[in-house]
Amino acid sequence: MNVKDITGAGGTAGDIVPADGASIARAAAILRAGHLVAFPTETVYGLGADATNDRAVAAIFEAKGRPRFNPLIVHLPNFEQATNCVQINELARAAAERFWPGPLTLVLPRRADTQISYLCSAGLDTLAVRVPGHSVAQDLLAALDRPLAAPSANASGGVSPTTAAHVADSLDGRVDLILDGGPCAVGLESSVLDLTGGRPLLLRPGGIPKEELEGTLGSIEEDSSQEDAPRSPGRLASHYAPGQPLRLEAREVNPDEALLAFGPAPPAGARTTLNLSQNGDIVEAAANLFAMLHALDDPRHAAIAVMPIPERGLGAAINDRLRRAAAPRE
Ligand code: TXA
Ligand code: MG
Repeated sequence: MNVKDITGAGGTAGDIVPADGASIARAAAILRAGHLVAFPTETVYGLGADATNDRAVAAIFEAKGRPRFNPLIVHLPNFEQATNCVQINELARAAAERFWPGPLTLVLPRRADTQISYLCSAGLDTLAVRVPGHSVAQDLLAALDRPLAAPSANASGGVSPTTAAHVADSLDGRVDLILDGGPCAVGLESSVLDLTGGRPLLLRPGGIPKEELEGTLGSIEEDSSQEDAPRSPGRLASHYAPGQPLRLEAREVNPDEALLAFGPAPPAGARTTLNLSQNGDIVEAAANLFAMLHALDDPRHAAIAVMPIPERGLGAAINDRLRRAAAPRE
């Protein structure tokens, strides 16, 4: 079936449409036919494909221009459905009970009888699963009645999209429909927690602070394997890079730079200044991070200077993203 037939009257490939009952039904039809739909989650926008359809999943890699070895998160409507895809253990049960639906992804052993495409595992014997909290994501999963593979809906190496417009900018013409559910509330990707070993291992800091995860799961190790053999390949050095160079820990700013500020007293003199949080609120800063990086990523700026961000709570995840974005380009 041609995607134009499914998108219906007035619908052309790559359209942004407000998410409502009709557009979600249309999105489900597009996905069922093996095409791609971008949709909002509480963390960032996802580029979704039917996770049981290898070709559809392959189309994600193609659309993103993403290295093949990056495995994908499988989105499910509830814990029950997750138990059909992965082998659940006690820690996983506890984590799911406390944090799902929400910005937490669990890496667990694949079940031998799962229908999920192996491409989602990218050569590993594990699968990353998540139950998103956003009502549009939930409605889409219900309408589709299949698991959804979805990385962040940006071209590989780009900044994660937190609005429908970001998706359109980054994936222009390479996604069949974009469901607009407004800006993402969390604004950072999900925390990725590997529960395949004896102790939980945090592969990617994200929407749930490590301390909060530890409150439920006990002590959590952080992934120190990234340099040589990254267990979470999405954390490769320059993964989150904007086009312009980033200058971190900036306490003053040059007139040809953009300033990504934090707190009540940013230095004056930048060409453009955006403040992650005037009140120094780390959660507000996380929600603004990718949108502001997008906005400041303009060749008119020699660089984006970023003020120091405290490491507390979501600050660790923000700084992880910023260090990655500032890393030398591959
Ligand atoms: O918030 C999010 O997680 C968003 C929304 C759309 O759900 N998705 C997202 O997906 O950020 P993506 O593909 O951009 O990042 C997924 C991360 C990558 O770092 C990837 O390497 C890791 O999860 N990952 C996925 N499957 C894995 C697996 N089986 N083992 C280890 N890491 C895995
Ligand atoms: Mg991503």
